[in-house]
Amino acid sequence: MSEPVPDLPSKMKAWLYTRTTGGIENNLHLSSCARTPGTTLRRDQLLIRVIATSLNPADYKVPEAGHGLLSRLIITRPASPGLDFCGRVVATGPGSAEAEFQPGQLVYGCLAIPSQFGALAEYVVSSVENTVLLPSSSSSGGLRNLDTNEAATIGVAGQTAYQSIATYVTPGFGDRVFINGGSGGVGTFGIQIAKNVLGCHVTVSCSSRNVQLCKDLGADEVIDYTAVDLVQTLKEKGQVFSVVVDNVGSPPELYRECHHFLLPGRKFVQVGSSSPLVFADRLLRPRFVGGGRRQLDIMILNNNKGDLVRIGEWMREGKVKAVIDSTYEFEDAVKALEKLKSGRARGKIVVYVAENP
Ligand SMILES: NC(=O)c1ccc[n+]([C@@H]2O[C@H](COP(=O)([O-])OP(=O)(O)OC[C@H]3O[C@@H](n4cnc5c(N)ncnc54)[C@H](OP(=O)(O)O)[C@@H]3O)[C@@H](O)[C@H]2O)c1
Repeated sequence: MSEPVPDLPSKMKAWLYTRTTGGIENNLHLSSCARTPGTTLRRDQLLIRVIATSLNPADYKVPEAGHGLLSRLIITRPASPGLDFCGRVVATGPGSAEAEFQPGQLVYGCLAIPSQFGALAEYVVSSVENTVLLPSSSSSGGLRNLDTNEAATIGVAGQTAYQSIATYVTPGFGDRVFINGGSGGVGTFGIQIAKNVLGCHVTVSCSSRNVQLCKDLGADEVIDYTAVDLVQTLKEKGQVFSVVVDNVGSPPELYRECHHFLLPGRKFVQVGSSSPLVFADRLLRPRFVGGGRRQLDIMILNNNKGDLVRIGEWMREGKVKAVIDSTYEFEDAVKALEKLKSGRARGKIVVYVAENP
């Protein structure tokens, strides 16, 4: 069952792409007459006016997949990128959504992948399951309030960081974790969640300029991959890690050699890889021809309300903070994507979509 939303403008401002040849950033255009989603809402849906979004590599990797051909099969175009959002509820679907959400409330969340109507736009439709109320000062109970930028960073990176570590350690047990890539969107959440929430001993890698950032976030040991041989340094530690979380996919031999530093029976979690070849090699090469000797788990984000809520709570308790590399005006979204694509962001990149009314 769905219901029409009254008084909703049929057109909105949105960054749109119809092709991705040469990179999505070279194909995006700012339209002021894009079709507004959510003119009718299902009972489990909310229409949200976006205030801020934060970018994730999926925002370009998914549209560009298979030279854009693969994504054409799953995303109708023109489409807008953007999964993470913080905004205000404009309308709720009939029935169950009304019980939890009211128009005007501030919310944050993460859209399902793939999405034609992404958060680089004035309005998004999100499911009730992937949307969380941003607690107001009246309900704070001594906790700090999150601002809209902070809330907009939680979706993909926060959930990925949590799920890629928590599944593999015992909270409070002092498990040793190695996070390859500690300074990006996922890594900055990962360090803090592993250290301050799960009570792990945290070793991370990053380049020289990010060593202090990773230490400040709580990393016990930081390996500067530009100064030393990362794999050799890890091998010298012996089999000590309960889990290896790879946000980078480099160096290629990290998985092949991980039995030297990952405890027997424990897992190597592949979160990200800039090279499909490295990814395929790790997945497919059998052990007897030099493949990895520990189980490889491929991380696939499980977008869910429980994790969105708990990460927001940890941020309000001061256990985890949003590390924001930079913020961009809506008109400068292409510059924000270019920064993300440089692979050098320290934490999250936020784009303001509209004033907080
Ligand atoms: N599987 C899933 O469900 C899932 C979900 C979310 C993200 N991902 C993937 O996870 C990866 C990370 O995402 P993200 O949002 O964190 O990306 P990001 O913010 O763009 O990551 C940028 C960071 O990567 C670091 N980096 C680059 N090369 C490195 C290397 N060789 N060693 C160590 N650090 C390196 C950079 O630090 P330096 O400048 O210091 O090198 C920079 O701080 C991406 O590939 C993304 O697609 C997968």
